[in-house]
Amino acid sequence: MNDNIVIAIDGYSSCGKSTLAKALAKKLHLIYVDSGAMYRAVTLYFLRNKIDITDKDHVKFALHDIHLNFHSRDYQTHITLNEEEVSEEIRQMPVSEMVSEISAIKAIRTEMVRQQQRMGISKSIVMDGRDIGTTVFPSAEVKIFMTADPKIRAERRYKELKLKGENISLEEIFDNIAHRDFLDTTRKESPLVRAKDAIILDNTILTQKEQLEFALERVSPFMKSKTHD
Ligand code: DC
Repeated sequence: MNDNIVIAIDGYSSCGKSTLAKALAKKLHLIYVDSGAMYRAVTLYFLRNKIDITDKDHVKFALHDIHLNFHSRDYQTHITLNEEEVSEEIRQMPVSEMVSEISAIKAIRTEMVRQQQRMGISKSIVMDGRDIGTTVFPSAEVKIFMTADPKIRAERRYKELKLKGENISLEEIFDNIAHRDFLDTTRKESPLVRAKDAIILDNTILTQKEQLEFALERVSPFMKSKTHD
């Protein structure tokens, strides 16, 4: 038993991974890392600087110029790209439309995985993404693989973006989610796949509270103390 724990949460786009990860981080005093935000910030840099992704040297050169940092406030992800706060901009459609292509590039994955593994050295971390339980932390104490009905996922995302005032249709969101699922699961470099030892959490009809309870049950054998209401 120990208090140092790595929780890996993987799954499809817009499945509520980050909501669950944040709730776990809050309850158990863990560091929360949204690995998707890193791929999104890299995508933003590539879009802004019109990097040709077919040019391997250009991609590698660009990676040297990208400095990402997380600042956690109230368990919300604040990410900076070369010192500029980009947390809002990376959630917008131009980035969502391009991120799966960018994150399929080997050199980019290698660099992101290196940075993510470094964040886990001090342990006590919950990280969500697509390859956390398979590639980033294959020996994580707890691995959860999240899934949900694509229609429900699109509806949840639609509500979220509408609240933020984005002008986008449900159909566009559904198509984007389906497209990202396809690219994420079929790419050559560490595709989205359930780790053999990951437990499946289908949250189509589960509330956030139920999902947290489900996860806490899996985590509790590894925690000596410390939960936080
Ligand atoms: O979790 P998200 O939807 O914000 O992630 C955005 C994209 O980043 C997603 O379509 C795939 C990619 N991603 C990845 O390839 N590996 C990760 N560990 C996290 C995200």
